[in-house]
Amino acid sequence: MWCSRVALRQLQRATVKPLALTGAPVGVMQRDMSTLPRVYVTRQIPPEGLRILHESGQVQFELWDSDDVPVPRKELLQKVKGVDALLCVLTEKIDAELLDAAGPNLKVLSTMSVGFDHLSLEELKRRGIRVGYTPDVLTDAVAELTVALLLATSRRLIEATHEAKTGGWGTWRTLWLCGHELANSTVGILGLGRIGVAIAERLAPFKVKKFIYTDMCPRPDLASDINAEYVSFDELAKQSDFLLACCALTPETHEICNKNLFSKMKKNSIFINTSRGGVVNQNDLYEALATNQIAGAGLDVTVPEPLPTDHPLFTLKNCVILPHIASASYSTRNAMSSLAANNLLLGLQGEPMLKELKL
Ligand code: DGY
Repeated sequence: MWCSRVALRQLQRATVKPLALTGAPVGVMQRDMSTLPRVYVTRQIPPEGLRILHESGQVQFELWDSDDVPVPRKELLQKVKGVDALLCVLTEKIDAELLDAAGPNLKVLSTMSVGFDHLSLEELKRRGIRVGYTPDVLTDAVAELTVALLLATSRRLIEATHEAKTGGWGTWRTLWLCGHELANSTVGILGLGRIGVAIAERLAPFKVKKFIYTDMCPRPDLASDINAEYVSFDELAKQSDFLLACCALTPETHEICNKNLFSKMKKNSIFINTSRGGVVNQNDLYEALATNQIAGAGLDVTVPEPLPTDHPLFTLKNCVILPHIASASYSTRNAMSSLAANNLLLGLQGEPMLKELKL
C-alpha cells in the first residue's frame, strides 16, 4: 500500500525538519514518481521519518501501514521484490532468503534500531548492501529505563504496589518488602559502551561505591568517564551487587549469562538486562531466581518476544519483566525514525550515512 491517509495525517503533524538533502523537489516526485528509487518501509514508523522520506522527493515509498502487527513474512518477501532500499525495525529478520527475494536492486538497508542481531551482516556485506542503524539517539532513554528497572527490581516496587492494592498492606513491619540499595554498592557492567556509561552516570549520584566492567578488552576511553575498573568475567560475577547486561547480542555473547555466571554471583545481587534476551539462558536464570541464588532480576528483553504469559519467569516475585520498552519515549522513537530515514536517503545518494555500520 502506498503511504496511507493515516500516515499522511501523521506527516502533517510532524515538526522535525528533514536534513537538507539534494535531489528532486517534491513536485518532481509527483510528476515523475515512477523513475524514483523504490523503498519499502516495514512498519508504520513515527511521523518524522515518514515526513523526511516524503519531503525529500527522492524516493517512492510503500509502507506496512500498522504499528501493532508486524508485516507477515510472506507479504514482506513479496513487497521487497525489486526495491532499491529497505527501512526495517528489529522484528524483521534480514537474511539470505529476504535479500534473495529483494534481488540485486537493493543497495541500502536502514534499521530503526541500535541492535543489529536481526541482520545477517555477512550476507549484506557479500552483496555490497550498505547498512544504517540508530545508535546514540536512544542512549538517554535506554539508560533512564535501565535505572528505573533496576530500582523497581531492587526496591521491589511491583510487589509493593500489588500488596498495597490487594490487601497485603497490614501494619508497618520492620523487614517487610525490604530490598537492596545502591548506596555503597558495586555495580558491574557487562559490555561497556555508550549505554553502559550513560547508566553509570545516572547511578553515580545514588552513592555507588565502585563501578567495574568487563568486555572483550579494556575500554579506557569510556571507562575513564565513569571511573570504572576493568575486571575479568568471573570477578564481575563475584563482585557485583548489581550486574547489568549492556552487551550486543553476538555469537560470543549468546547466553553468556548462564548457570556459570549466576552461580558465582552474590546471594544479594540483582541482575538487569536491557540489551537482548538472547544474552541470557532463561532456564538458568529461572533456577537462580527460584532457588534464591541471586536476589532478583529485571528484564526488558526476553526470548521470545513477547514472552508467553504462562512462562515460568512470570511466576516469580523476584523477577520484573518489561515488554522491550527501553527506548520507548516519544522524542527518542521520533529521533530514531528520523535518523533511519536520513541514513536511507544518504545511502541511496551514495553519501556517507549519519550512522552506518562498517561491514
Ligand atoms: C534497539 O534499538 O535495538 C532497541 O532494542 C529498541 O529500541
